[in-house]
Amino acid sequence: MPSVLPDGEPVPDDGSLPASALTGAAERPLGFYLHVPYCATRCGYCDFNTYTASELRGTGGALASRDTYASNLVEEIRLARKVLGDDPRPVRTVFVGGGTPTLLAASDLVTALGAIRDEFGLAADAEISTEANPESVDPAYLAELRAGGFNRISFGMQSARQHVLKVLDRTHTPGRPEACVAEARAAGFSHVNLDLIYGTPGESDDDWRASLDAAIGAGPDHVSAYALIVEEGTQLARRIRRGEVPMTDDDVHADRYLIADEALSRAGFSWYEVSNWATSDAGRCLHNELYWRGADWWGAGPGAHSHVGGVRWWNVKHPGAYAQALGDGRSPGAGREILPDEDRRVERVLLELRLREGCPLSLLRPDGLAASRRALADGLLEPSAYDAGRAVLTLRGRLLADAVVRDLVD
Ligand SMILES: C[S@@+](CC[C@H](N)C(=O)[O-])C[C@H]1O[C@@H](n2cnc3c(N)ncnc32)[C@H](O)[C@@H]1O
Ligand code: SF4
Repeated sequence: MPSVLPDGEPVPDDGSLPASALTGAAERPLGFYLHVPYCATRCGYCDFNTYTASELRGTGGALASRDTYASNLVEEIRLARKVLGDDPRPVRTVFVGGGTPTLLAASDLVTALGAIRDEFGLAADAEISTEANPESVDPAYLAELRAGGFNRISFGMQSARQHVLKVLDRTHTPGRPEACVAEARAAGFSHVNLDLIYGTPGESDDDWRASLDAAIGAGPDHVSAYALIVEEGTQLARRIRRGEVPMTDDDVHADRYLIADEALSRAGFSWYEVSNWATSDAGRCLHNELYWRGADWWGAGPGAHSHVGGVRWWNVKHPGAYAQALGDGRSPGAGREILPDEDRRVERVLLELRLREGCPLSLLRPDGLAASRRALADGLLEPSAYDAGRAVLTLRGRLLADAVVRDLVD
């Protein structure tokens, strides 16, 4: 979720969609993203749409309060029901993300999920996930989420090393994320993810290996490993500019990616998206797959983005403005765009090329196809998949994924 919202045309007050958005909807899976825009403290590298208590003070007052936030989500879910009309699809995935969803009471997350169940129904095998910060949950909290219907949980581990966690401003202690995995398993969660970050200033190859070993040893069935992005405007970017911490270079990122893929593969994980590994197909994050495959999802909460049938819209960013819109009976949508076919094609290439299944060569235009032949010759695409009509990244291709994608969209 970028910190600056795009421009776009206004969203009607009732949130209604052009009829074209619902054409063929029955064939597409439907997911829900629920954004929780609160954090206890802000990590210096993060530019997600999230607010600490002191950042909210005096800007939106009681409306922005996290104590009443679940009722805002319920309101937006009811609005979604009205907008989608008699759309008969049960919801296939729900993903609660943040911010720190687990700063809310577990009962609040269960209430929001209940509203989706009441308004839309959940598919029998629906994936119901939440993100959680390791320091913000305990066994009772996890048991309440599990009893309320959550079956997947994703912990922000980031690193096993104290000095790395410190540069990232993380407040949990090393070892706590691994304990969370055990607590989640004991509570009955069948799917557990650990998020890791590599390339933090001051992190060594050995630190990164130790983080991977600790994550793998904890027994999750999914690991996400992201290169640290130094976002403009963050505290971390300022510290790097002032020379207080060094910038990590791209070669180090590439080395760390190779270390990750090697360690995770050895432990029985397979990559299924450039930054995501799972122990089996059942361990993949179905919700993210909905995004990557251009399905429909409704994103509720401040700054959340939605996509239904080629219409993309985004909500106002501030929790106070968000609550105000819903309280006035208006859609919290701030803007929207109806994606032209060419944009949808480019988006498909961008997203599908990062997947293990790759993207069909038939999606490429002549310049992109010529670029794909060069990428094949350079060892960046798998020859057998190419012969079968798909562009699938090799390990070297994954290291250069952004550059390959840029060439292939032409
Ligand atoms: C925005 S957080 C929300 C979940 C939770 N608050 C947490 O921090 O674990 C989701 C994940 O995004 C990743 N992330 C956030 N900012 C990032 C950045 N600048 N570079 C790389 N990864 C980032 C982290 O791995 C984090 O676990
Ligand atoms: S806890 Fe997560 S969402 Fe909150 S500031 Fe840190 S990385 Fe961002």
